[in-house]
Amino acid sequence: MTTDYNAIAEQYKQCKEHPWRSRIETYSLLKRLGNLEGRKVLDVACGEGFYTRKIRQCGAGEVVGIDLSEAMIRLALDQESRHPLGITYRIEDARTEGARQEFDLAVSAWLLVYARNQTELSAMCHGLASRLKSGGRFVTFTGNPNLYAFPQADYRKYGFSITLTDRLREGAPIVWTVYLDDSSFEIENYHLPMKAYETAFLEAGFQDFTVHLPEVSPHPQGVDDATFWSDYLAHPPAVLIECVKK
Ligand SMILES: C[S@@+](CC[C@H](N)C(=O)[O-])C[C@H]1O[C@@H](n2cnc3c(N)ncnc32)[C@H](O)[C@@H]1O
Repeated sequence: MTTDYNAIAEQYKQCKEHPWRSRIETYSLLKRLGNLEGRKVLDVACGEGFYTRKIRQCGAGEVVGIDLSEAMIRLALDQESRHPLGITYRIEDARTEGARQEFDLAVSAWLLVYARNQTELSAMCHGLASRLKSGGRFVTFTGNPNLYAFPQADYRKYGFSITLTDRLREGAPIVWTVYLDDSSFEIENYHLPMKAYETAFLEAGFQDFTVHLPEVSPHPQGVDDATFWSDYLAHPPAVLIECVKK
């Protein structure tokens, strides 16, 4: 089990091909980002650049991706050199202060789940605030802190399962097992209550903290597959959070 993406960079890239990633995660996140035309956007914990590329392809003017993992950034740079989109990638820890408050929008998919306690969460929120202009937005797709309300939920048909390995407490490990065609791998996330997220963002200088539930996109061929997605939507393992820097 890992939080070190250097070890699982290739496998993680493959798991972005699971249908829920496009039908729910990408659909919900891009819808929430809205019009990106000409925007200066930072993708925080960009991984191998899955969203960084999409954000640029959606018309963002300037896009920078940062991530802690050298292996993830190497995969992102590899894609950029094969299919240049003019994206800048850097190895950078979201918990550090940025050099300038220069971005209109900061996006992250799956960053906050790596904060094990309020101190780490606060560092992430201050790191985000230090990179955003006043009035800039932060939007994230992240683990649902209310996951403990539905411990029996079964997500295997979507390509993953979630194990709550400890009682509900700050920093309790949450293990995601991700199933690929011929292998599986585990990722460890950490529980913090929604109130901790809200408090950390407000203290770091954000306002308008809002939580949204994920949505599923219409089927591309018009097939009615609502029944397939109903378990995910009834017990959402992820939510979207957005807020605005004062
Ligand atoms: C689940 S992956 C998500 C990658 C990408 N956002 C996506 O959705 O494909 C989580 C990423 O967060 C990165 N990460 C974790 N803690 C971080 C931190 N403090 N600063 C920057 N990146 C971090 C990991 O290295 C990993 O690449």
